[in-house]
Amino acid sequence: MGNNRGYYMAKDANRSAQLTFGDKTLDLPMASPTLGPDVVDIRKLYAQGDIFTYDPGFTSTASCESAITYIDGAKGELLYRGYPIDQLAEKSHFLEVCYLLIYGELPSAMELEKFENLVTNHTMLHEQMTNFFRGFRRDAHPMAIVCGCVGAMSAFYHDSTDISDPHQREVAIVRLVAKLPTIVAWAYKYHVGQPLVYPRNDLDYASNFLNMCFSVPCEEYKVDPILSRAMDRIFTLHADHEQNASTSTVRLAGSSGANPFACIAAGVACLWGPAHGGANEAALSMLREIGTVEKIPEYIERAQDKNDGFRLMGFGHRVYKNYDPRAKVMQETAKEVLALMGVENNPTLQVAQKLEEIALNDPYFIEKKLYPNVDFYSGIILDAMGFPTSMFTPIFALARTVGWISQWKEMIADPSQKIGRPRQLYTGAPHRDYVDVEKR
Ligand code: SDX
Repeated sequence: MGNNRGYYMAKDANRSAQLTFGDKTLDLPMASPTLGPDVVDIRKLYAQGDIFTYDPGFTSTASCESAITYIDGAKGELLYRGYPIDQLAEKSHFLEVCYLLIYGELPSAMELEKFENLVTNHTMLHEQMTNFFRGFRRDAHPMAIVCGCVGAMSAFYHDSTDISDPHQREVAIVRLVAKLPTIVAWAYKYHVGQPLVYPRNDLDYASNFLNMCFSVPCEEYKVDPILSRAMDRIFTLHADHEQNASTSTVRLAGSSGANPFACIAAGVACLWGPAHGGANEAALSMLREIGTVEKIPEYIERAQDKNDGFRLMGFGHRVYKNYDPRAKVMQETAKEVLALMGVENNPTLQVAQKLEEIALNDPYFIEKKLYPNVDFYSGIILDAMGFPTSMFTPIFALARTVGWISQWKEMIADPSQKIGRPRQLYTGAPHRDYVDVEKR
């Protein structure tokens, strides 16, 4: 069994890296992970060498020690607490994956039942939060509503905002996992002008979400078990992903001691960007803009033209230089759902599959190791399920909440964590004195 922060403390190799510059040579300790590259520990670099490292975008920087998720970009492998994502997507279900990410181990049957009951019985929102939704314009993007409402949770759940209290941390974790589906579903219902549908304790997590989104008071709504399974699998595929931009945002916000609801709201805001979680919405819009297989070559050309701001949305990844394993599972799920919906000849799916085939054989994409990522197929499934594109990123945020809050929990418990405060490479004006306006 691992220590309180995960399976293995980083094994400090008895090796060090020598850094020589000017008349100085520094010995920098190295640490070996369970998986992945060794690290050079540069925490003392500025104090001993009076220099900074420079790594905009953190392409070569490990910002923390974590035992939650591991990505092998070269192999296209994703592990949640050591378990491969394809096995979890096939054999597990989202709430069991939540337990695994939060607590580090797969639950026993009794632990799982207890956790599922806990989440199920905390899916309702404070009734006064309904006023919060109604304060938005009807045409507000659902992500704006989700971001506002998650932040507002710190105004409704004061009794779980003290991060120094382990019990309050646990309560906040369960509340966030339990209530995000209600917030996201209500953001959708408000956006489309339909009555808010309350959660039901007789439905599983994914079915409950679909019911809150698609049922209406005037008729019976039966959740299709295949759609519910597909929804649950989409949640699992999006649950966590190492130190991506939004997770790093949550950790940085949390490092100042901000309450967990404020930290998750910061993660929602960061995820919204089209280079990150907003790519699923942008990918489907792009596939629709391409429209037909015949127009694909024109867009493949544009994606390579440095003077054209166009990029293939849903393609490429900072870490994966091979197929994103989530994209493979997502493609299979897309075929299942479209067949169920009787739209297996969906033109958008045909364009997506042809675009993938052409791109993966194009020298530009091969040389830059650009493959479909998690966002390339997810929009096709969500569209077939009846969600508007504006709901794609809110659904991503719903699923990623467990990853964000697991990483936040790990950070709070890490004795070496301190407030994140990067330095800079300053290239502005040197020191100069003020000049009165008459003399300028
Ligand atoms: C997610 O980090 C995560 O883990 C994120 C995520 C998660 O689960 O949290 O996996 C979710 O955000 C997936 C990524 C979704 N974004 C997109 O699909 C948007 C399109 N993709 C890109 O913008 C881009 O690939 C990124 C942002 C995903 C990664 O960018 P990097 O690592 O900073 O790489 P880069 O922009 O420096 O690109 C390297 C080269 C460049 O060419 P050169 O300047 O070297 O000539 O590849 C080119 C880029 O122009 N390139 C693309 C491209 N992506 C990169 N060219 C065309 N189309 C693309 N999609």
